[in-house]
Order: sequence, then structure tokens, then C-alpha cells
Amino acid sequence: MGAAMKTNPKTFHVKSFGCQMNVYDGERMGELMAAQGMTATDDADAADLVVLNTCHIREKATEKVYSDIGRLRKHAGAQGRAPMIAVAGCVAQAEGEEIVRRAKVDVVVGPQAYHNLPELVARAASGAGAALDTDMPAESKFGALPRRRRVAPSAFLTVQEGCDKFCTYCVVPYTRGAEVSRPMAAIVDEAKALVDAGAREITLLGQNVNGWRDADDNGLEALIHALDRIEGLHRIRYTTSHPNDMTDGLIRAHADVEKLMPFLHLPVQAGNDRVLKAMNRSHSRDSYLRLIERIRAARPDIALSGDFIVGFPGETDAEFGDTISLIDAVGYAQAFSFKYSPRPGTPAAEMGGAVPAEVMDDRLQQLQAALNRDQAAFNAATVGRTCTVLIERRGKLPGQMLGKSPWLQSVHLMTDAPIGALVEVEIVQAGPNSLGGIERVRKAA
Ligand code: SAH
Ligand code: SF4
Ligand code: F3S
Repeated sequence: MGAAMKTNPKTFHVKSFGCQMNVYDGERMGELMAAQGMTATDDADAADLVVLNTCHIREKATEKVYSDIGRLRKHAGAQGRAPMIAVAGCVAQAEGEEIVRRAKVDVVVGPQAYHNLPELVARAASGAGAALDTDMPAESKFGALPRRRRVAPSAFLTVQEGCDKFCTYCVVPYTRGAEVSRPMAAIVDEAKALVDAGAREITLLGQNVNGWRDADDNGLEALIHALDRIEGLHRIRYTTSHPNDMTDGLIRAHADVEKLMPFLHLPVQAGNDRVLKAMNRSHSRDSYLRLIERIRAARPDIALSGDFIVGFPGETDAEFGDTISLIDAVGYAQAFSFKYSPRPGTPAAEMGGAVPAEVMDDRLQQLQAALNRDQAAFNAATVGRTCTVLIERRGKLPGQMLGKSPWLQSVHLMTDAPIGALVEVEIVQAGPNSLGGIERVRKAA
């Protein structure tokens, strides 16, 4: 391409579109560029370099990237500017060169190659044309990332990447590659650095986080026990788990480790065995329900969360009804639900039996009504309890702060406790999406 000479960018803006790991990657890319002497700006329209950290999971997410690029260009053009645009994340991995052809961006970088971002930006700035890196190198990117200096009280830490499960609807095994676990020592190191940088809670991330293994084949509970020993770290969470990797050892950790919060995101996707089989979920409705029983036996107050897809190819009304009855049986504290979106290259995209759009809409509404009902009931059941809240940010009202309960509910309260404090709070009020509390005791700052 006859790309014009661009100057080296001085300011940058990272916009993340995807899951928590995508957000984590976005933060790390930001740290990488800050370490190069670039300055972060909150205003995408003022930045010399905009990094669009993309998600490929559903068609809408992918299309959003292209509309965003158009909007950015138009706005900058009106000001006589031509910012450098880098596309990172899972769309970059899936579409690669195609993005350069379609949208003429300057840099395309995949999720396993973003430690090379500064070099790619420099190459694009030299006028050599678009710079592209979608390799999945054997050596991990993590060693090449800078140490983290200042983080929020609740921080993410990637411990496992990739997916070998190949659910028939899902692009993740293709965009993120095979399952790889980071070594225990590197994770403990990063966790300590996060605590030194201000973290009080760490959420361990992985596409199949409970598939994490150390060199001696110990499971995620071994890592949780190691993190449990870090002074100053008060809370541990992990996400996303696959039902088939929920081992006895990990379930036991929910009974034994006080720092491990009573919350588990355990997607089931659907409640009917034919659909689960067609999805290649390799668990059944019953095996999932029995698993939930065992988890609740270990930690009776655990809050459960899930992901659901409505309108998978061939899904009948009766099969969808099985998803509703599963929801009734479990009683989720919160959940995410999606309309099935056919993704290029996945087996489900080749299956017949597309569910009409109106039927999908109707099923999604029914599903969300059931989930909202259970979420409201779960929230209402916490009224009268006293629990620890980790203060994360200021509220809208003067003197009001917002934090999270152990069950991951948002709690607002009046307090002069600073961000990062743990406060003993009596829950006095519950809404559909948040709780109100009264401060009882300050625990730690
Ligand atoms: N590894 C995680 C997250 C996968 S992506 C897991 O297994 O749960 C997050 C959610 O997006 C999935 O759980 C699923 O509910 C949804 N999803 C994935 N592919 C989809 C598709 N093609 N259409 C609609 N929803 C999808
Ligand atoms: Fe996708 Fe299934 Fe892997 Fe989750 S377990 S990332 S839904 S293939
Ligand atoms: Fe999206 Fe990639 Fe995460 S497709 S959900 S950003 S792993």
C-alpha cells in the first residue's frame, strides 16, 4: 500500500469491546505503550493512536469494529487529523489481512502477539505500510510485558488462555488458540505485584480457567491456595469455568479457602440434552444439575451465574422450555443471555434449522424475565445480612461510595472509607441490580 508517512504517536487510547480477558489485554497494551513514553487519553477522538481491542464472539460485536473505524476517521477528518488505527483482539486474529483490505487500518495485532505492539506502531509510522502480527508464538507474551504499577482494588490476572472444547457455535478456540496455562511462579509474582500496586481482590481469568494446570498437573485449587498466602490480598475470584473441569479439589477449595469468594460463573448454555449435544458441550442437563448440588454442599451460600444461548439451530419450543426449567431449578444470582449468532468457520454455522428472528426475540425475552426474577429474588434475600464490601469507586451522591459484596452484587453506602477499603456493611435495601447498605465496621484499607 502507498501509505503516507505518519508521525510517531504521542498519545493513545485503548477501547476494549470483549470479555474480561479482552479488558485485561487492553490494560496491558496500555501499560506497554505508557512504558514507551506515550500518554494515555480518555478521548478517542483526540488520540494520535487508537487501539480497537475487538471481540469476535457474535456478529454484532465484529461489525461494531468497522462502524467504529468509520466514525473515528470521519471525526478526525473533519479536524484535519489522521490518527493511527490499530485493530487488536479476536477480530484481528480471525480476519487478519482482511481488515487492512476492508478498512485500511495501520496495525493489526492478535491476542497472542500484542507484546509486539510498540514495534508494529513504529513500523507503521515509518511509512512501510500496514504492520500485521497474528502469530501465536510458542513463548508467551507475558514475559515481555511491563510490571504493573497502579491498579484498581479489583484487578484481573490472566492465568490460562485458549480453549480445546470446541463448542460448535464458538470462535474462541480459533481466535485464542489451544489451552495454555501460565506457570504458577509467574502468576504468584504478578499477583504480588498487583497487591503492591493496590489490588485487594484478584479475579483469575481464563477461557477455561478451571482447566488451569501447573507443571505437576495440580489444578486451579493449588494456585488458589498459593494466592491465599499473599498478605494484603483479601479476595480471590476466577472466571470463566467449564462444568467439566469443576474437580472435587476445586469444589473443596470453596469450602476451605476463606478468601475465595462465594460466586461461581458456570455457563450451561441450554437445558436440553439434544441441544447440549449439538453444541458439543460434553455435559448433560443432569450432570450439570448434580454438579451444582455438590458445589452448594461445599459452599451453601454460593451465588451462581451462567451464560445462555437461545435459538441454537433446530431448537424447538419444547427444548427451549427445558432451558427455562433448568433456570427455575438452579436459581441464578445473575446471568448473561444471547441470541445465537452464526459465526464463520464454526460447525453450527453449517447446521440447518435456523430459528426465525421473532422466535429468538420471544425466547430471549422469556429467558431474561426468568433470570431477572431470580436475580431480584437473590438480591432481596441478602437484605438483613451483614457482609464485607470492597469499596471500588465513588457514588453519584456526595459521601456515597460503591463496592462489591462477596456475591458480586454492587452495594452503595454512605461512608468516608477510601477506595480499596473493606467495610463491614449491613444490607438494608435491594433493587434488581444493586443493594443499599449501612457501614458497621471498617476492616482494612
Ligand atoms: N469460555 C467461556 C466464554 C465463552 S464466550 C465459556 O465457555 O463460557 C461467552 C459466551 O458467549 C458463551 O458462554 C456463550 O454463551 C456466548 N456465545 C459464544 N458464541 C456464541 C454465538 N455464536 N452466538 C451467541 N452466543 C455465543
Ligand atoms: Fe467457546 Fe465452548 Fe470454549 Fe467456552 S468452552 S470458549 S463456549 S468453545
Ligand atoms: Fe470476544 Fe475474544 Fe473474549 S471473541 S469474548 S474477546 S475471547
